[in-house]
Amino acid sequence: MEPEQELMRIGVSLPDNLLTRFDEILSKRGYSSRSEGIRDAIRSYIRYYEWSSEVEGDRIGVISMTYDHDQRGLIDALADIQHEHLDVIRSSMHFHADKKTCLEVITLHGDAEEIKRVAEGLMALKGVEHLKLTTISTIK
Ligand code: NI
Repeated sequence: MEPEQELMRIGVSLPDNLLTRFDEILSKRGYSSRSEGIRDAIRSYIRYYEWSSEVEGDRIGVISMTYDHDQRGLIDALADIQHEHLDVIRSSMHFHADKKTCLEVITLHGDAEEIKRVAEGLMALKGVEHLKLTTISTIK
């Protein structure tokens, strides 16, 4: 537990469906208030960011991502990024998940900084819905 801190009040605008899904999860997990759920979500976002900034050195990695097949220009942009990072990208697998959703899995090996640049470049593209990067150190 962190020491007690003064609470700040913020106002956040969210799309209705995002809030509905968030509330459903909070209810399943037994949260007593939305504020507590949001605090936990922000903590895990910060932990994830800090974890990813500690990823360094020679790594093998997997990027898994889903994206909207109908997003104009996206498939070309995804291919461009992968061709720009040939030195770290080892393979990719494409799975047509449903009529409009593609799942792509990319394996990588190389310097962590470049692997993260690939992941961040892909994540920034409009139409990319979920992206997860997992890496493993090659140093035993
Ligand atoms: Ni597809």
